[in-house]
Amino acid sequence: MAIWGPLKPINEVAADEGSPRLRPTLSWPHLIALGVGAIVGTGIYTLTGVGAERAGPAVILAFLIAGAVCACAALAYAELATLIPTAGSAYTYSYTVLGELVAWVVGWSLILEYSLACSTVAVGWSGYLVGWLQATGITLPHALLNGPHGGGIVNLPAVLVSLTIAGMLIAGTRESATLNIVLVIIKIAALAAFVSIAAPAFHAGNLVPFAPYGFTSHVEGGETRGVMAAAAIVFFAFYGFDAVATSAEETRNPARDLKIGIIGSMILCTTIYILVAITAVGALPYTRLGGSPEPLALVLRSLGHSSAANVVAGAALVALPTVILVMMYGQSRIFFVMARDGLLPRALSRVSKRTGSPAVVTAVTGVFVAAVAGFFRLDEIAELANAGTLIAFITVGICMMVLRRRAPDLKRVFRCPAPNVIGTLAVLGCLYLLMSLPEKTLVRFAIWNAIGLAAYFLYGRGRSLLGREAGSHSNKLQA
Ligand code: ALA
Repeated sequence: MAIWGPLKPINEVAADEGSPRLRPTLSWPHLIALGVGAIVGTGIYTLTGVGAERAGPAVILAFLIAGAVCACAALAYAELATLIPTAGSAYTYSYTVLGELVAWVVGWSLILEYSLACSTVAVGWSGYLVGWLQATGITLPHALLNGPHGGGIVNLPAVLVSLTIAGMLIAGTRESATLNIVLVIIKIAALAAFVSIAAPAFHAGNLVPFAPYGFTSHVEGGETRGVMAAAAIVFFAFYGFDAVATSAEETRNPARDLKIGIIGSMILCTTIYILVAITAVGALPYTRLGGSPEPLALVLRSLGHSSAANVVAGAALVALPTVILVMMYGQSRIFFVMARDGLLPRALSRVSKRTGSPAVVTAVTGVFVAAVAGFFRLDEIAELANAGTLIAFITVGICMMVLRRRAPDLKRVFRCPAPNVIGTLAVLGCLYLLMSLPEKTLVRFAIWNAIGLAAYFLYGRGRSLLGREAGSHSNKLQA
């Protein structure tokens, strides 16, 4: 295994925790609330429009495909999360099962997942803010509301919301369970209101032709089109369920609660998304949804329901920042664990004495998230975030199957049903989604990983704590 770098022993990972066990107080309804709270965000509120532009009305099918693939990955995730219940998620699982080099690639990809997801949600939030302000008669300078790609200078609201959330995390803010439930209710109520108000305007003719660009992802008229092209972007709408998987230690009956929590939140989100997508493409021709930074509000405004549009936009404005909070929190923990392992500079793992939060790493993350949100296009950021997430999910599927073979007797609190079928579906499904992303996203992703590998070989490998331990151990054996 030397070529892949050292493996982190599972016992050591578990011992890493060292902390007292958390009190098991959660049951499956809490887990579903946790999952829906972390999952529902810009994916449905904004990317529905981008998906409709790429697939036509068949964006409905795209949601179904992305949801099914994600559900398989989520089951594999849950098995590993209960087996290796420590910070770092997919990065730590791959360190344990596949070795340091793969762990590095996954950790480097998770930077895209978490940070760029924050940037995407920030840009989505900004779109709803601008629409809402305009509807109330306030117009701000175009140059400060759009990055250079949109003929402006910077997307200032997206920058400000990113920095504000980073500041809140540095100050030690955590989302409380009660606040999460309130926000989940707001998000779901807004989507339910959208469906019930726009559904009467459903016009079957809007669904014909259903898949004007066909199934596979391909370039047509300079744009990536097809059901799979849409699935590869609306995949964004489904992740965030790691929040459920990582709460294993706090659940009363993990085997039952995790299964219901993860599958339940996936089924609930997929159902909501499909209802919203059917309503949106049924009410307005899909060509009108594509370019809108606030497609759900646009549908309601076009149908003459301006107040309802403002309420839905208001709900998005209140609720979306918590998705940034959860994802930015996740990012800071991944950086933290990678720095603790010696793969990134140790300074990043310094924890503030006053608040207990990793302040330096959170500040670095906040600035990175804000810079990307300020200057780049929403769909391009989301696609790159998806590429990183897909690599992480592929690895999680592989780790789950490998560990079943390598350590069949380990006590698994949660066992993924039909592990080889689900694991293979997760790996192949994610691979197909990855290959369906636009070529320029794949090129950017390859460049990102080339930089990552250079950083690993020039910096991380020599400083890895585990690598050094392994080195001194083999020196001792030779002496
Ligand atoms: N699933 C999350 C969203 O759609 C990241 O915003």
